[in-house]
Amino acid sequence: MDASLSPDARADLLLAQLTQDEKLSLVSGFWGAPAPWAHYDPPPLARHGSAGFVPGIDRLGVQPQWQTDAGIGVAQQGSVAVKRERTALPSGMAVAASWNPDVAFAGGAMIGGEARASGLNVQLAGGVDLMREPRNGRNFEYGGEDPLLAGTIVGAAVRGIQSNHIISTIKHYAFNDQETGRNQYSVVIDDAAARQSDLLAFEIALEQSQAGSVMCSYNRFQGDYACENDYLLNHVLKRDWRWPGYVMSDWGATHSTANAANHGLDQENGVIHEDSHHFGANLAQAITAGQVPQARLDDMVRRILRSMFAVGLFEHPIPEDQTTIDYEADEHVSQNAAEQGIVLLKNEHDILPLSANARSIAVIGAHADVGVLSGGGSSQVYPRGGNAAPGVAPTGWPGPVIFNPSSPLAAIRAHAPNANVQYDAGIDPGAAARLARHADVAIVFITQWTSESQDFSLTLNDNQDALVAAVARANPHTIVVMETGGPVFMPWLSHVRGVLEAWYPGTKGGAAIASVLFGDANPSGHLPISFPASLAQLPRPHLDGEGLPENSQFEVRYGEGAAVGYKWFDRQHLEPVFPFGFGLSYTSFAHSNLAAQADGDGVRVTFAVRNTGRRAGMDVAQIYVTPLGGGWEAPKRLGGWQNLALTPGQQAQGTVTIDPRLLATWDADAHHWRIAAGRYRITLAASARDPGQSVIITLPARVLERP
Ligand code: BGC
Repeated sequence: MDASLSPDARADLLLAQLTQDEKLSLVSGFWGAPAPWAHYDPPPLARHGSAGFVPGIDRLGVQPQWQTDAGIGVAQQGSVAVKRERTALPSGMAVAASWNPDVAFAGGAMIGGEARASGLNVQLAGGVDLMREPRNGRNFEYGGEDPLLAGTIVGAAVRGIQSNHIISTIKHYAFNDQETGRNQYSVVIDDAAARQSDLLAFEIALEQSQAGSVMCSYNRFQGDYACENDYLLNHVLKRDWRWPGYVMSDWGATHSTANAANHGLDQENGVIHEDSHHFGANLAQAITAGQVPQARLDDMVRRILRSMFAVGLFEHPIPEDQTTIDYEADEHVSQNAAEQGIVLLKNEHDILPLSANARSIAVIGAHADVGVLSGGGSSQVYPRGGNAAPGVAPTGWPGPVIFNPSSPLAAIRAHAPNANVQYDAGIDPGAAARLARHADVAIVFITQWTSESQDFSLTLNDNQDALVAAVARANPHTIVVMETGGPVFMPWLSHVRGVLEAWYPGTKGGAAIASVLFGDANPSGHLPISFPASLAQLPRPHLDGEGLPENSQFEVRYGEGAAVGYKWFDRQHLEPVFPFGFGLSYTSFAHSNLAAQADGDGVRVTFAVRNTGRRAGMDVAQIYVTPLGGGWEAPKRLGGWQNLALTPGQQAQGTVTIDPRLLATWDADAHHWRIAAGRYRITLAASARDPGQSVIITLPARVLERP
């Protein structure tokens, strides 16, 4: 308990006090909620409705690990009658669309505060798998397609969670980029491409957050399960990145005892999902038989204790009684995140912002009278006030489909008190069109529910494309508000005037949408992903595993290598519907004075941004790098960005320092990052497709010191 010692020293001292049984008990986690599919009753101490539980060691003051999901808020697992109702942030994708690490940190701090107040101290958050597959049902939990953006935003969120002296994971390590066959597929990609893409996102997120834990994923990588993968766990994570935390398995993702232990797994979780308890007695036996060194068990335990010390759990134990939560303050954090994450995709003839003096508005579809959609699966947060639209299928796992009770319709009415605002459920396109025909403006809400454990079509379901088309035919002033997990096809795009991508906007989503529609919030969100025009544009038009008999093993070959998202579109000369980095504002910005110079191993870029419009707004000034001599996975990479909030006429200086790894490629033979000598174009732009303005710099050849 000597807080003046380092977490490592304290972990060593505590480790020396533990019996073998105590050590073994720290490396196995159980299900925290009664599981309907197995005869298992968690101890009351497990906090029913949480994801998992690892008993503590009372005699030494080691608290239990109370694990819960996660990144969008404090979630609820299992069939517990009384739901734990908490504040939901907008989806991870929405937070990434803010491009604002402060927004991500504040959101994480909010979630961590509610977790602590709920008696929970390990948050299973930090999803940072890249969007290689737009159909992936979990894209909404993640940070988009670029390793720097995703790593930075997710890292800031996890730092926010851990600022509450609790542990967070970064997950799902690694390459769990689709849900179809998630327990069956093996990803194939070479070392250099892996390090320059998904692994770089994890590396950056870990550096930014100092996350106490990493959750290894369900899938296999190069043939071996992620949770017994020597390359991923021992070589990359623990050796090359020198990361001192502990690896926990995803729930039921442990498949062996000695193999998993020796290849770097430190804690087996979700034991109830498995055919056998791989750690516990089996691990004890493997140690006795000499298959797993005692030092390996000690290392597992040391890593777990070290993370508990490092976040301050011993100085700030979880209080016996649950404490109160300031929901009003937390909802404010969520609404701000939603407003900053909403992306204005189209605004023809400046149809937006709407005037408070509008006379008649037709609001159509997607339960917009009662609430806003959320994503499904283990990250599901149950809202205070209950599900605003109960009964939408699926009502069982990975549902229930939950609408947060924040009504866009009510918020629109509050913004336009003198307008005649009418609602139509949007089930019959003809009826919706009749309502729209006589309104000044029609706002159609569309939803695409996505969730853990399955992948989804990019074509909207329930006849929603026909609905939008019918309304747009009836009223030329049609605006579409999208609540989606990621990109969808928009066949009606050229027929509508305005489009807002609101993602899953969280607890105060309805209020946030209305505030952007009416211009109280000036949209500053930018896409963290590309919107493809068709499946044919994707590296894998056919979703691997789709159509195979259940439990078939298969490979997912990443032929695109590190050219994920916009890098792929650039390399293949494909035109997306909306490019990465894109987002409109109600004001305009002018960029000037771009300059770049070498700075240590990296590059320092400076520029000026002026707000040339009539409203205050936030610019997201993006810096892209192109090696003129080629040699990268794609023509260019995002090198950095800066968010600048400016009042009308105001000018400010921006500075971006480009991480040297984003100027380098991974040399797999020599095992280091290497910058090639040559000329590099540095571009200041408003999206990955904006030509922007450029300067050229020359860099000498260089090897980066740390792998
Ligand atoms: C999910 C994890 C989650 C865990 C515990 C798994 O099914 O993949 O993301 O943290 O369950 O709920």
